[in-house]
Amino acid sequence: MLASKRILLIIGGGIAAFKALDLIRRLRERGATVTPVLTRAGAEFVTPLSVSALAGRKVFTDLFDLTDEAEMGHIELSRSADLIVVAPATADLMAKMAQGQAGDLASTLLLATDTPLLIAPAMNVRMWQHKATQRNIDTLRGDGIMFAGPNDGDMACGEHGPGRMAEPLEIVAAIETALADGPLKGRRILVTSGPTHEPIDPVRYIANRSSGAQGTAIARALSALGADVVFVTGPADIAPPEGVDLHRVETAREMLAACEAALPVDAAICAAAVADWRMASAAMSKMKKTAGGLPQLEFAENPDILATLSQRTQGRPALVVGFAAETDDLEANATAKRLRKGCDWIVANDVSAATGIMGGTENAVLLITDTGTEAWPRMPKDRVAARLAQRIADALAPETQ
Ligand code: C5P
Repeated sequence: MLASKRILLIIGGGIAAFKALDLIRRLRERGATVTPVLTRAGAEFVTPLSVSALAGRKVFTDLFDLTDEAEMGHIELSRSADLIVVAPATADLMAKMAQGQAGDLASTLLLATDTPLLIAPAMNVRMWQHKATQRNIDTLRGDGIMFAGPNDGDMACGEHGPGRMAEPLEIVAAIETALADGPLKGRRILVTSGPTHEPIDPVRYIANRSSGAQGTAIARALSALGADVVFVTGPADIAPPEGVDLHRVETAREMLAACEAALPVDAAICAAAVADWRMASAAMSKMKKTAGGLPQLEFAENPDILATLSQRTQGRPALVVGFAAETDDLEANATAKRLRKGCDWIVANDVSAATGIMGGTENAVLLITDTGTEAWPRMPKDRVAARLAQRIADALAPETQ
């Protein structure tokens, strides 16, 4: 099941660290390669020698080990795995992860990576139930981190309740699930994101306030389900996702060209906030203030990328999804937009100032399809993305009957 899978295993400092030794054995039995990292506290419970003997390879222990850095830097180490597993994940390690601290090798690896992450918490029941830990758990789950356990049971400290680390075979099962191929494996999906910039002259441009957050979250969610994502982005505020085929563009016309070059795709998700107009002809040199009055800017209409992709007679993606940000009559406007543009679905949201959605972390959307309108509850933008990605996977799934 795990043949040729590369697991980076971080062993935290708790009594459950002894179970990490068995976990290494079980993973290797299934064909996985295990690269172990032992925290300083972890080394109080199990020795580097036993960890490296079971893993059959070197154990990494210290951020400032110059030999390690010469052989393999900590950044590279954090990325050369299919999955990072933290077992045991102590309350302290989880707090560091939730805060984004990077004071030692383990926390630095966890911050420097974009590899999927699975943690197996282990701690005293009161520590698990503490509000601070519960807040950290919410943060980590919100960040997309997977959990194995903890279980309820007797603890080494003599207490009873949740906080006992999952058994090695339970962790192995969670690892197998985490590494299973997603439902979008083999699917090629185009995502547009961010604003476009339309030059007025060499130093000025027309833009809009799109941050690219929702488009980036959608690309990430599609990748997480196994899709090959072609990500065409205008100049966005936030960093593009890792692991996608990235194409940076400035203008609407460049975006359309990049989208057409990406075809054929199974689905196109047009989340970009494309400028409707550009200058009819941008000035070749910087426009000057003149005594003769204000400049007259003449506009030309930009191509509509969503409509162009939707209305292709040849090579139309099987599913084309557009977005509608409206301040009035959301459902009526978005329903009309779906028909006008010819796309299959519209994800509509109300961006009136009172909703706090524009520039915020949450979104409340309507999904409009040919069968009607679904109102999704307000939720974080990455949850909207995950739910949309799952719907896309369902829509592209081959008929089962
Ligand atoms: O017409 P409106 O801009 O409201 O439509 C929004 C939807 O159309 C979004 O999905 C956006 O990505 C897409 N769009 C486009 N090209 C344009 C304008 C909008 O693809 N020129």
